[in-house]
Amino acid sequence: MLIDFRPHARLRAAAPVDLTASVGPVVGALVRSPWDLARVRVVCDWVQYRENFREPVDARPILPPGREGLELAVDVRRAGDVPLGERAEAVLRDGTAGRAYLEDWGPGSRSCVWDFNALYWNALEAWEKSTGRGYEQALPGGESDARDRDAARDLILDLFGAWDDLARAGALPDELVVVELGVGNGNQAKVFLDEFRRADRACGGDYYRRLHYLMCDYSRHVLDLAGQAVAEHAGRVSAVALDATRPLTSLGFLKYKVFLVYVSNMYDNLPTDEVAQLSDRTYLVETRAYLPAGEDPAPVRRLLKLGPRLLAEADPGRFPDLDAAVAFWRRAWSAVRLEERYVPLAGLDAYQVTPRFNGEALRPLLESGRDVRMHVSNGAVASFTDSLHLLHPHGRLVCHDLFVTDVDGYRTMFRGPGKYDGSVVNWVNGPLLAHIGRRRGFDVHYEPFRNNVVTMTAQARD
Ligand SMILES: C[S@@+](CC[C@H](N)C(=O)[O-])C[C@H]1O[C@@H](n2cnc3c(N)ncnc32)[C@H](O)[C@@H]1O
Repeated sequence: MLIDFRPHARLRAAAPVDLTASVGPVVGALVRSPWDLARVRVVCDWVQYRENFREPVDARPILPPGREGLELAVDVRRAGDVPLGERAEAVLRDGTAGRAYLEDWGPGSRSCVWDFNALYWNALEAWEKSTGRGYEQALPGGESDARDRDAARDLILDLFGAWDDLARAGALPDELVVVELGVGNGNQAKVFLDEFRRADRACGGDYYRRLHYLMCDYSRHVLDLAGQAVAEHAGRVSAVALDATRPLTSLGFLKYKVFLVYVSNMYDNLPTDEVAQLSDRTYLVETRAYLPAGEDPAPVRRLLKLGPRLLAEADPGRFPDLDAAVAFWRRAWSAVRLEERYVPLAGLDAYQVTPRFNGEALRPLLESGRDVRMHVSNGAVASFTDSLHLLHPHGRLVCHDLFVTDVDGYRTMFRGPGKYDGSVVNWVNGPLLAHIGRRRGFDVHYEPFRNNVVTMTAQARD
């Protein structure tokens, strides 16, 4: 039996985790079960997201059938609240009995949790009215990193420096294009535009007049909000509805013309799979979303198709008004859990990270040492690589987000998925993005920003 206790730091925290009290009863339950202990792993995480997709103890089959193994996943944060040994016993008996499944097994990036996520951004107004809280309050540190004026100013002055050089060489285009992906309420755009105008006035330039700032998001509601936030810069700004995992589809006309692709807290909100290397075998983590026993999945599926407003119109008997439909949505989202299983991958080249990249890009990370499980960040990789095509040769991509910056980061801490209000959060596989970016001729580097957030910068190599 292998016991993988990931949150080492918690053993020495001010209120330390009691390893024996949390893990001992789970091992006891396994010892009393009929499982061949040679085929069993116990994985302990500290799941820092109070709202998440896990039970305190989950059982994850390790396929293939016939030679099946088992992983028991324990959230040690909850050791004080629930008797983990009893939970483990119940799960080992038949923990899945009665569950109301919302979907069939599949890679994590295809789960309906992403439909919930998109619904949240599209119907944000109704959700926020119901909770009485803005989405920023759920982000690390309680506000968006987009608000940091000093960081915005440094970035703008760097851009001005590059533009001055190009202007001297007679190579600066008339229009100076900046693209922001995943704009949220527009605070990042507003800080950038305010600082940009101020810096330009201070040096008596005409860069502000030449600026074209494209705010991009897949939620029309969010784009409207952002448009209001930057109303005083309206002449410099356009709003574009697009899927940020494929920005080239809508912005192809800007290929090689964009001086800055600017992203904040969006990569961690894009669909992802997870893969794992366990005892020298590579697995895809398949998931299937479910509700607790006794729930009816049908109205939840309807909610995901229609959204809360149309759901209330379609079924006024059950949902007399929008508030009732949103209350149902919030309850359902809070109850959604993900069952997981490990399915062997025939070969990394047979797995697609995105339609353009196969899983070979994961090999150096998966074969980097001990067992590891990591995000593939499929949506982030797709967005990132598409965005690189937009960049002017002197352009750069800057992204503030929750990046894991080395593979060991996946061995020591839980990295998602968690729930931020109605949305999904997963840390982003930094080494994978860096590896793919470098192969495309870009320097990619990471530096700490604040509250666990890291800034990634990608720029074409000289
Ligand atoms: C957590 S918010 C971040 C907002 C803002 N950048 C900030 O830092 O406060 C994530 C944003 O990404 C957008 N988003 C998520 N997935 C997207 C996708 N596939 N295409 C376009 N926008 C997306 C959401 O609508 C939302 O505006």
